[in-house]
Amino acid sequence: MQQLAAKNATVLAIDCLPRTLSRAQKMDALTSTAGVSGYRAVIEAANAFGRYFNGQITAAGKVPPAKVFIAGAGVAGLAAIGTAANLGAIVRANDTRAEVADQVKSLGGEFVKVDYEEDGSGGGGYAKVMSEGFQAAQRKMYAEQAKDADIIITTALIPGKPAPKLITAEMVQSMKPGSVIVDMAAEQGGNCELTVPGEAVVRHGVTIIGYTDLASRLAKQSSTLYATNLLRLTEELCKAKDGVAVVNMEDDAIRGLTVVKDGAITWPAPPLKQAPVPAPKSAAAPVAEKKNGHGHGAGAPMSAKALTIIFAVAAVLFWLIGAYAPAAFLGHFTVFVLACFIGYMVVWNVTPALHTPLMSVTNAISSIIAIGALVQIAPSEMGMDGRPDGLIRWLAFAALVLTAVNMFGGFAVTRRMLAMFRK
Ligand code: NAI
Repeated sequence: MQQLAAKNATVLAIDCLPRTLSRAQKMDALTSTAGVSGYRAVIEAANAFGRYFNGQITAAGKVPPAKVFIAGAGVAGLAAIGTAANLGAIVRANDTRAEVADQVKSLGGEFVKVDYEEDGSGGGGYAKVMSEGFQAAQRKMYAEQAKDADIIITTALIPGKPAPKLITAEMVQSMKPGSVIVDMAAEQGGNCELTVPGEAVVRHGVTIIGYTDLASRLAKQSSTLYATNLLRLTEELCKAKDGVAVVNMEDDAIRGLTVVKDGAITWPAPPLKQAPVPAPKSAAAPVAEKKNGHGHGAGAPMSAKALTIIFAVAAVLFWLIGAYAPAAFLGHFTVFVLACFIGYMVVWNVTPALHTPLMSVTNAISSIIAIGALVQIAPSEMGMDGRPDGLIRWLAFAALVLTAVNMFGGFAVTRRMLAMFRK
């Protein structure tokens, strides 16, 4: 950096991008390459592993699914989890940062916790070195996983530190012959004690792959993604589209990337300013105030006023309906309002991802036509005003058949959709 500064240069280091900044994701080359490498790691493992990933029952016998354990669920680890799960393996994963547990689950993996309470978040989305106590508990858990797993893929890294040693020689020895370890941290010393960086070796009957060029093994894909990252960076640098690059140090993403500016070393960038308070919190505040009994006008005068007016108008309308409408209407209307309320409360509490299956199941349940048709299809004592009773019964029969399609179709569709969420 000093040599570059001496030349009065301005230098952007693509791997210094603040990665937790969602606006910067389009320029995040580390993520692009880590995703490619994670995918490739599974393919390398599959190549060295002598079995299917998915379980199969064939005429020649039953094949159990492969068990894959992923150490470190960052970008590469998550890509590996998704790929292995899609190939049909049983996937488990562990990370020191507890917040990734949900991401592991959403990709079809199971998060395995270390029996020790300690948060592994360092800063900027990265991990930190863990305490001795944690490491001992983690080794115990990894030893159990090693005995059970067919394939282990390790991705654990801590910025500026050698890769944590997670898989010991004894753990390798305890694995079944023919198992595979892909050590994605090989370049930083490896997560496995027996890894030889850049090579695939067999130790105690286990193939240990320490390739350091996983992204290059899908060169075209990596280049395409990297080119897109650089194109997006160019767009950010030249917003005026006049061919002149402007290094705007007020822009958090550009500030993070810039390690030398006009001959002055600007690395490391100051930590990112705290993100603004998320919307739900600020929205909750006036509600809490209202509950505290500040009166309707005090907390948020505008919205409280509007709410009071709406309630008053609704009350007057309801009174008018009650006073003038026939009694039967009032009964139906009350049921209708209650149904709306219950329906709203039910839907409100369902995760948005499940709204489509919910819709198909309510569609099936709401086939009230079936009841009407059943009433009509029953033989009546008196034919209605000489009209052929038969026609109505045929109509009712048709209604029943169509409703049945709606009902059973709705249930079948719901079943299939829910199956997509199960693993
Ligand atoms: P990395 O390559 O530095 O580390 C890989 C993983 O290993 C991390 O998840 C880390 O927690 C884990 N690890 C470290 N020590 C471990 C240990 N002793 N045992 C088990 N696991 C251990 O991380 P990577 O993949 O480069 O991601 C860094 C972070 O960048 C992400 O986690 C995320 O927070 C952030 N990011 C955010 C994006 C966004 O959406 N804005 C996009 C991409 C990354």
